[in-house]
Amino acid sequence: MQEEILSDRLFNKFSDFFFNKTGIRLKNYKKYLIINRLAKFVGADNEFKNYEDLYKALINGDSQESVYKFINAITTNFSFFFREKIHFDFLSHYFKNIYKDSNSIRIWSAACSTGQEAYSIAITACDCLPNTQINKLKILGTDISTNVLNTAIEGSYDYDKIEKQLDSRIIKNYFHKKDKFLIANDSLKSLINFRYLNLMSNYPFTKEFDIVFLRNVLIYFDNKEKEYIINKIYPYIKQGGYLIIGLSESTVGIKHNFKSLKYSIYKKE
Ligand SMILES: C[S@@+](CC[C@H](N)C(=O)[O-])C[C@H]1O[C@@H](n2cnc3c(N)ncnc32)[C@H](O)[C@@H]1O
Repeated sequence: MQEEILSDRLFNKFSDFFFNKTGIRLKNYKKYLIINRLAKFVGADNEFKNYEDLYKALINGDSQESVYKFINAITTNFSFFFREKIHFDFLSHYFKNIYKDSNSIRIWSAACSTGQEAYSIAITACDCLPNTQINKLKILGTDISTNVLNTAIEGSYDYDKIEKQLDSRIIKNYFHKKDKFLIANDSLKSLINFRYLNLMSNYPFTKEFDIVFLRNVLIYFDNKEKEYIINKIYPYIKQGGYLIIGLSESTVGIKHNFKSLKYSIYKKE
């Protein structure tokens, strides 16, 4: 049985490796989840005969591909359209009442996973802003998992799954159906750039963002890394701009310079 083969010693090594790459510490109680997620690579009929082989490939840097595969397998990428709807109500309010006509509108979906968050931002913007403003809108979606970024770029989602998440008006206006999939229209896709970015590494931005969505990712980090990420993002938000974290996430015990508003929304004053 694979559970027996992944010793605590090796699990701790995987945990250290994952921490060095992502800033996320895999806790011991997650061992069985990790075994499950690695099952497709490890075993007699798989790419790596045992966990030791996988670990060796990772640390020897045999191929960067193994590292991506490992990160893709371990990260939790669950997401859906208009998740935590209150934040999209805030975004509508922002576009209609707070945003003042300017040369650009820049929104970052940090840890965007398969793209539903970035597309929900784009749909909200198109519903609220006139075309003259939409032309100035740039949405950036970033993630550390290369798998999810591919789905995000394709903008193609299982019809049966997302039909329940989107009302028929939105489907009609912003998607088209192909076989079993709903695909985001090019007009929506053209508003978003998806890129690989590790929240723990350097950020390559030269311009600030009006709003940063950093939702349902901090929950995986310990306080020290959460504080590091929140303070790293701070200079990249415009004065008067916003940081939005997940409703179930908290900044308790974390030092930062944002003003905390309602619903896990933070303002840079
Ligand atoms: C649960 S999803 C959240 C998706 C979306 N923000 C939402 O709220 O639905 C968390 C995402 O964070 C990404 N992630 C984890 N660690 C990361 C890191 N160090 N840098 C960038 N993205 C990371 C994962 O790959 C995953 O896609």
